[in-house]
Amino acid sequence: MDVLRISGGLPLAGTVSVSGAKNAALPMLAATLLTDEPCVLRNVPNLSDTRYMLEILRHQGAETLELEPHVWRITAREIHPRTPYDIVRKMRASICLLGALAGRLRAAEVAQPGGCVIGDRPFDLHEKGLAQLGCIITKPNGNIHVDASAMRGSYVFLGGRYGSTVTGTANIVMAAVRAEGVTRLDCAACEPEIADLCKMLVAMGAKIEGIGSPMLTITGVEKLHGCDYAVLPDRIEAGTYLLAGAITGGDVVVRGAIREHLGAFLNALNEAGVEVSDAGPDALRVRGEPSRFRPVDIVTMPHPGFPTDLQAQFTALMAVTPGIGLVTERIYPNRFMHVPELRRMGADIAIEGNTAIVKETSALTGAPVMASDLRASAALIIAALAAKGQTWVQRIYHLDRGYENFDKKLVAIGAAVTRIPASEMPKECLREE
Ligand code: EPU
Repeated sequence: MDVLRISGGLPLAGTVSVSGAKNAALPMLAATLLTDEPCVLRNVPNLSDTRYMLEILRHQGAETLELEPHVWRITAREIHPRTPYDIVRKMRASICLLGALAGRLRAAEVAQPGGCVIGDRPFDLHEKGLAQLGCIITKPNGNIHVDASAMRGSYVFLGGRYGSTVTGTANIVMAAVRAEGVTRLDCAACEPEIADLCKMLVAMGAKIEGIGSPMLTITGVEKLHGCDYAVLPDRIEAGTYLLAGAITGGDVVVRGAIREHLGAFLNALNEAGVEVSDAGPDALRVRGEPSRFRPVDIVTMPHPGFPTDLQAQFTALMAVTPGIGLVTERIYPNRFMHVPELRRMGADIAIEGNTAIVKETSALTGAPVMASDLRASAALIIAALAAKGQTWVQRIYHLDRGYENFDKKLVAIGAAVTRIPASEMPKECLREE
């Protein structure tokens, strides 16, 4: 297993390009199962999660061919409806096969992924939505079985306690595009990744109106065809690099950063005293001046609110900001696994309910830390870039699930980051695996 060694204190400078969005690529790869014709997907990020989704597609019977780096052709001529637990357990997003399989085959059986460190993540809304389309849901042996033989378009309300559901929306849309009649999907997720999935489905012949809004009107079609479609850039990766530039007092241009996808986040950065300007089409420039940082109060919400997937990284910025910053998590109330690790680096953070109270610290210092999940890994690395001395980040396989070449991209803009095998770590820094 590899670890990252980071020497902090260097201002980052230069240009970094973001890859395709993981959370769009995963349901889009699943959507290729909706047709027996070849689909070409471009800008597919090379991540352990996307490689894994491709493996699942092969398991379902699809042929996958990498035409060139980041470009995949998937042909799902004949597929089968079952996805067992040993396949699903490695990646929660496998659940988005449910809608694609139900839409294509009128039957699906996908094992339920197990627990998740960022919080309880049930699938009740996915099931409720499919049931509202007339599907019969049963749960044999820990699997979710969908009998979609009587599926029909109808009114579906998909909101839950925490608002809309991203993957739940993807599932219902993928089923409804092949359901006879009109579906009105209310309280649909408005995340740009869902809008992009809908646009890909339209390119495959689906009829969807209201894309990007909470009310989608989907008129089912008998058949979908192949497509050639490029995945949108990853707004979370873009936001992560903007934070890395800011926290180090750097000057960084992020290519593939779409302002409209990052509204609430950029507003929070602005309030935090970080200057972000346009740097050409789909590019933003960040200039950080730590003496100007101000504490802010953010609350995560479904899009267009502040994204939960940038909460941990933003907490790192607040940890080096004078005053008291408040970070409230409304999507996953316990998504604070990064906090004890940031404390090891000297951050002064208290958790009160679903709010992190981030107090002033004189400076962060390097320390051996452990990544607990994807975004926590990014937060620890961002903090390490601003810390005095050396930080060792263990369990970076979490990072590799969702950031393509994160360490290499940081090195290219001046960060001192080295990936080494855990066996080469100084024994006194190695924490138990
Ligand atoms: N929820 C339910 N019931 C459901 C579905 C969701 O109660 O049936 C709750 C969840 O527990 C959560 C909230 O609703 O409290 C929102 O969950 P959502 O379904 O929107 O999340 P998801 O689709 O499982 C996606 C991303 C996550 C991201 C969330 C929120 C993918 C593959 N994953 O998850 O990404 O945090 O939306 O934006 O798209 C990440 O990339 O690090 C990541 C965790």
